[in-house]
Amino acid sequence: MNVLITPLTAADVDPVAALARRIWQQTYPGIISQAQIDFMLEQRYHRQRLLDELTRPDLWWDQLRVDGQLAGFSSCMRVDGGKEMKLDKIYVEPARQRLGLGARLIAHVAERALALGCGTLILAVNKRNQAAIVAYRKHGFAVRESVCVDIGQGFVMDDFIMAKPLPGHTAES
Ligand SMILES: CC(C)(COP(=O)(O)OP(=O)(O)OC[C@H]1O[C@@H](n2cnc3c(N)ncnc32)[C@H](O)[C@@H]1OP(=O)(O)O)[C@@H](O)C(=O)NCCC(=O)NCCS
Repeated sequence: MNVLITPLTAADVDPVAALARRIWQQTYPGIISQAQIDFMLEQRYHRQRLLDELTRPDLWWDQLRVDGQLAGFSSCMRVDGGKEMKLDKIYVEPARQRLGLGARLIAHVAERALALGCGTLILAVNKRNQAAIVAYRKHGFAVRESVCVDIGQGFVMDDFIMAKPLPGHTAES
């Protein structure tokens, strides 16, 4: 299995949005309503929004390919004045989950975070997304906070904020 993680380009935006829809339809029914899935996909994977995000200096999109085929992606951004890196999205194609690809994406983002002097990786995960919570715990995250965020149209994100300290980080770096 040849695994390659590279930055997303404008040409990858449509395939990534299509992959996101496939993964969300496999993951979120039973966790949030179909109306909320559709609303959030439109909000977060709108073509122009992704293209705009690719130009941001504080936000990074990565794609993971297995033998040349798109199999996952992540995005991360600096938060808290640059002290923390937020893993904003991480998704692996259903057929390739539990093969260590999520771990590869997390390690890639952690490396970037450390290089930029961030001491912690954080993320938000739906409280009912048990499989992802188990994965994050396995990869060194622990629940830090419980939040419920109003995202409009009557929908909320009922999430845990999880955090992973980055071991190589020192207060001076
Ligand atoms: C969460 C996700 C990114 C993890 O990536 P991954 O490549 O599957 O995870 P890894 O192979 O690195 O780690 C696997 C570990 O995670 C946990 N895990 C992952 N999927 C799981 C599942 N469906 N059920 C139970 N545990 C699961 C297990 O601890 C597993 O280890 P094991 O197989 O030895 O038991 C991926 O499964 C995914 O895209 N899930 C659907 C979308 C999603 O929920 N994304 C997160 C949004 S916040």
